[in-house]
Amino acid sequence: MRWVITGANRGIGLALARQLTERGEEVIATARNPADAKELVALGGRVVPLDVQDDDSVAAFAAALGNESIDVLINNAGMAIRDGLGNLDFDGMKAVFDTNTVGPLRVLQAVLPQVKSNGGAKVVNITSRMGSIEENDSGGMYAYRMSKAALNMAVSVSSVDLKDAGVTVVGIHPGWVKTDMGGDSAQLEVDDSAACILKTVDGLDLQNTGSFMDRDGSAIPW
Ligand SMILES: NC(=O)c1ccc[n+]([C@@H]2O[C@H](COP(=O)([O-])OP(=O)(O)OC[C@H]3O[C@@H](n4cnc5c(N)ncnc54)[C@H](OP(=O)(O)O)[C@@H]3O)[C@@H](O)[C@H]2O)c1
Repeated sequence: MRWVITGANRGIGLALARQLTERGEEVIATARNPADAKELVALGGRVVPLDVQDDDSVAAFAAALGNESIDVLINNAGMAIRDGLGNLDFDGMKAVFDTNTVGPLRVLQAVLPQVKSNGGAKVVNITSRMGSIEENDSGGMYAYRMSKAALNMAVSVSSVDLKDAGVTVVGIHPGWVKTDMGGDSAQLEVDDSAACILKTVDGLDLQNTGSFMDRDGSAIPW
């Protein structure tokens, strides 16, 4: 199977790329700066430049794929800022939205022919429990929470639009993971999160489309 993973030079994306490579999958891993992505390049697979905020970069990425079909697209690239009422950073908020919400759609739209070409593709958007409106009781993190809640809506809408094409679209929360974003206090090792995500993705089919789920496949309230 051919997998595309965005933001694969570090964190969860790198762990996903490593585990998929180890099990013999074809991985097209993307990084904003492949020349700096030493650990990713060392895996020996294809590393392609992609900045999900940049229309030209996304178009060039889609063009580089040509007519190669995609079996699984993992929209993993993401960013966070720590904001709160009283110190909201509106430019930062726009950048978070552009990366976390618009970015996955920018990529999906650009590679739609490659995603639709084999009839059974999966589109996995790495979202966050912090985007759950129903579960929110801690406040703060406006930009990040809003961007992931809106990404969840993009999951829902695109799942409807792509159902007839046989494409399964989901949002998966990876857990609180020890990465640059998650920090050292996080509960989960990155390899444990990635392994659990992959097990869940392997089991996905069209019946799951439009779901917001935890890494083990259990439902998260919207
Ligand atoms: N860690 C957690 O606890 C946690 C919890 C819930 C959800 N998530 C989600 O999981 C995903 C991965 O997070 P992580 O913890 O692995 O974070 P991370 O270690 O900070 O890695 C983020 C990745 O996204 C890439 N990225 C950021 N902006 C990009 C852009 N404009 N274009 C392309 N790539 C870009 C980064 O590339 P550069 O190196 O070039 O910046 C990096 O590869 C994110 O969507 C995040 O929101 C993480």
